[in-house]
Amino acid sequence: MAKSTIFFLLFLSFSVLLHNVTASDDIRCLQGLKDSFKDPNGNLNSWNFSNYSMGFICKFIGVGCWNDLENRVLSLSLPNMNLSRQLPDAFKYCSSLTSLDLSGNKFSGPIPSEICSWTPFLVNLDLSNNSFSGSIPAELGNCTYLNKLMLNNNKLSGNIPPEISRLTRLKVLSVANNNLSGKIPPFSGLSDFEYGGNRHLCGGPLAKCG
Ligand SMILES: *[C@@H]1O[C@H](CO)[C@@H](O)[C@H](O)[C@H]1NC(C)=O
Ligand SMILES: *[C@@H]1O[C@H](CO)[C@@H](O)[C@H](O)[C@H]1NC(C)=O
Ligand SMILES: *[C@@H]1O[C@H](CO)[C@@H](O)[C@H](O)[C@H]1NC(C)=O
Ligand SMILES: *[C@@H]1O[C@H](CO)[C@@H](O)[C@H](O)[C@H]1NC(C)=O
Ligand SMILES: *[C@@H]1O[C@H](CO)[C@@H](O)[C@H](O)[C@H]1NC(C)=O
Ligand SMILES: *[C@@H]1O[C@H](CO)[C@@H](O)[C@H](O)[C@H]1NC(C)=O
Repeated sequence: MAKSTIFFLLFLSFSVLLHNVTASDDIRCLQGLKDSFKDPNGNLNSWNFSNYSMGFICKFIGVGCWNDLENRVLSLSLPNMNLSRQLPDAFKYCSSLTSLDLSGNKFSGPIPSEICSWTPFLVNLDLSNNSFSGSIPAELGNCTYLNKLMLNNNKLSGNIPPEISRLTRLKVLSVANNNLSGKIPPFSGLSDFEYGGNRHLCGGPLAKCG
């Protein structure tokens, strides 16, 4: 691992520690998610809150903890589970979250513009293959640690906010297969950028905006 990566990880853990979140917040977060998600196939049945013990939520499907003896959520990985409805503000109680993968579900409604104030340490955000609509919130530019942002295969419209092109750590970005239009802002430092299958994008790697 590169020295800078190690420093970054140390810094990130330290920031999260400083953030001083209490473990019960994370329980409240998952409980809020379970209450608001529609889960027709019972994929979240292991999320049973009747038995409180140290690190009990760390055994739930899709939940990764910073430390298995502590109820503090590091990552949530819930792809392809037929989950639906809108993303609730219960995410604000998962403030130590660094990776969120909700790809391949049936989530709808807007991408909450508050997502980066709820979970400011996100490194990976994958909302691909859902039914999110509305525009891409400029506030995603506030997730300063974002490395990977997958928004492809949704129903997003409007432009790609220039705020996102200012995310200095962003390496992988997909907005393919939406209904986006307007000028692609100048990205530098992306190793992978997918933008095909949109309505009226122009500029950047595409033809000049006319
Ligand atoms: C949760 O687990 C308890 C026993 O630990 C069980 O009685 C209860 O039915 C479970 N609840 C759900 C919703 O699965
Ligand atoms: C509660 O969880 C602990 C640890 O996972 C387990 O050992 C215990 O059997 C559980 N109790 C019930 C009632 O499910
Ligand atoms: C999702 O729904 C489809 C069709 O209703 C079903 O065939 C599939 O098994 C479900 N997947 C999961 C992981 O529940
Ligand atoms: C998303 O959907 C596309 C097309 O339906 C499919 O090719 C791709 O594998 C899916 N990706 C994920 C992560 O589910
Ligand atoms: C988040 O982003 C918006 C728009 O880019 C900006 O106006 C706002 O000040 C930012 N908020 C924080 C807390 O950084
Ligand atoms: C695509 O976006 C345009 C506005 O930019 C809107 O008028 C149109 O209804 C959208 N189409 C779909 C299929 O969402």
